[in-house]
Amino acid sequence: MSGRKRILTIFGTRPEAIKLFPLVHVLEADERFDSRVCVSAQHRTMLDQVLDIAGIVPDHDLDLMQPDQTLDGLTAALLTHLGKVMDAERPDWVVVQGDTATAMAGAIAAYYRKVPVAHVEAGLRSGNIHHPWPEEVNRKIIGAIAALHCAPTETAARALRRENVDPAAIHVTGNTVIDALHWISARIERESQLAAGLAEIERRFAGKRIIGVTSHRRENFGEGMEAIASAIRRLAERPDLAIVFPVHLNPNVRAVMNERLGGLDNVALIEPLDYPHFARLLAIATLMLTDSGGVQEEAPALGKPVLVMRETTERPEGVEAGTARLVGTDANRIVAEAERLLDDEAAYAAMARAHNPFGDGQSAARIVDLLATV
Ligand code: UD1
Ligand code: UDP
Repeated sequence: MSGRKRILTIFGTRPEAIKLFPLVHVLEADERFDSRVCVSAQHRTMLDQVLDIAGIVPDHDLDLMQPDQTLDGLTAALLTHLGKVMDAERPDWVVVQGDTATAMAGAIAAYYRKVPVAHVEAGLRSGNIHHPWPEEVNRKIIGAIAALHCAPTETAARALRRENVDPAAIHVTGNTVIDALHWISARIERESQLAAGLAEIERRFAGKRIIGVTSHRRENFGEGMEAIASAIRRLAERPDLAIVFPVHLNPNVRAVMNERLGGLDNVALIEPLDYPHFARLLAIATLMLTDSGGVQEEAPALGKPVLVMRETTERPEGVEAGTARLVGTDANRIVAEAERLLDDEAAYAAMARAHNPFGDGQSAARIVDLLATV
């Protein structure tokens, strides 16, 4: 093993797992590296769904998820346990992705041990520390620590340079989410049964246009979630529409959505979909309504218009490309923007153009080559 660079990749939630499995695959196949994986399991079921499909067996599983966990309880546990794994593994580099509590604590624990950190999906900034909350500050903390910043786009690289990050440490690599999407699409092509579980919903809603929905942002808990639910209720009154909504396992999301949307004829409130089935939902949806980060990146790549139910976005590229629109969390605005797209063919056509501002599917290979040279 000696001579190989030891990389410890750390993640804990669904989106980190989706965006890091392509990197882990490339690292594992590359003899220059000894690849180790530690999952915090900040998420459990939603993380395991991705590990299963990607065939990743972590070397360390901290199993930290608690029901309705608080940010401080989670962060404290993460720091303590991730530090112990680093002491045992003594990695040359730690890799974290994005902006979750796991990524932030992973970067801090590495910094306390003077282990250099590579940040995948570096440089996203909304400019507002309360939207998204707490992710905007998590990213800034990681940005202050990282020695290698893998920015998905030139916009993200520019944001880091504005914060006086050493330009030599910033590289535009694209976003690994596009690698993940290509990988899963190829798998589905070969093994169509991987995404066959939506067939019943597809039959139930035959002849209707499908709106795919996801929602989970902490800053939307309370009023924002209520408004999103009421917009969906109103859209579901139209006989030509059907809503397919895989509901995030966070109890703060489920309580509102089950109460406000449960039992409606045109709404399928379903459990979180594994990645192949979510890719299928993206394929059959006319339109996506979401507050998710990852969905904002995937939908444009597939030419699906996205209405982003947030006040700000740190992913302006989709909006600039014309495939995403920020609509906030006002119910009237969400309904009006959705109906405009549904009822005005030209407006729909203008948004439904495939754009790939977030990458070309080769990001993981680029990041691994960078890790070999640093
Ligand atoms: C977390 C991230 C957020 C990311 C999101 C992706 C932080 C602070 N938040 O938010 O940045 O966008 O994941 O989905 O890092 N739960 C389950 N099973 C699961 C997953 C979650 O039951 O598989 C429930 C648990 O009750 C858990 C709660 O959801 O306590 C919240 O999970 P947590 O990871 O703290 O926050 P998210 O809202 O999921
Ligand atoms: N996703 C999934 N199943 C679902 C909903 C989403 O596999 O039921 C995927 C989606 O394709 C995207 C990622 O999860 O890649 C987004 O995760 P999430 O919205 O939880 O987090 P965010 O991206 O907002 O951090």
